[in-house]
Amino acid sequence: MKTLVILTGAGMSAESGISTFRDSGGLWEKFRIEDVATPEAWARNPALVQEFYNVRRRQLVHAKPNNGHVSLVELEKNFDVQIITQNVDNLHERAGSTNVLHLHGELMKMRSAGPGQEVFDVQPEKIEYTIHDKCPKGYPLRPHIVWFGEEVPEISNASKLVEKADILVIIGTSMQVYPAAGLLHYARPGIPLYLIDPNEVEISPGRAIMIRKGASEGVEILKKELLKKI
Ligand code: APR
Repeated sequence: MKTLVILTGAGMSAESGISTFRDSGGLWEKFRIEDVATPEAWARNPALVQEFYNVRRRQLVHAKPNNGHVSLVELEKNFDVQIITQNVDNLHERAGSTNVLHLHGELMKMRSAGPGQEVFDVQPEKIEYTIHDKCPKGYPLRPHIVWFGEEVPEISNASKLVEKADILVIIGTSMQVYPAAGLLHYARPGIPLYLIDPNEVEISPGRAIMIRKGASEGVEILKKELLKKI
């Protein structure tokens, strides 16, 4: 089976009603990154940071995987599908994808802000956190999110997956955030590279086969293309 590596971003979940970051009306028009998504923001105003992620968790529990997520699961019949997502939602998993690596953390997990950095699942009956929520050792619980300025612990595992790819697909990411955007450089030269996005996206190297559609329609087109070539 060929290894199909899929790099997804916020556009993957747009049709599930979850806002992207940099489109018009996106999250970073409504909030300043430095107020809600940096270690300094957490140090300065943890209540605001908790509330920002509480709102996002509330949205997520009401959202459903879209047809794009579902079609990626169907590709597992014919390919070894490895998803690398920048998304902090759990819609790939809820659709049924087997291999999902989260580069930027997960909304449905919290982490101890203490030295052990233990990670805890968010339980459906408690999706909202305040500055008073503590881990069993008494340290504050912070969102399990990779903030701007923090290391991306999964980047090395992600680059190894991209090195193994026989086919690489990029879906719904503006490719503006590093190190995620640099993952393309790990792809073996000459492998097919597809890019699904309704808008223009600049990538380097710039030789992708463009499918200029939203995620649902785009993955359906991709699926037909790939199955023709098996
Ligand atoms: N289907 C597919 N793609 C879409 C759709 C859709 N229905 N709607 C919008 N898009 C595309 C946009 O054209 C854009 O290229 O999704 C992309 C979203 O880009 P960003 O908002 O920049 O999101 P992303 O690339 O995932 O951001 C990367 O930045 O803020 C951080 O940590 C956050 O993981 C995030 C990272």
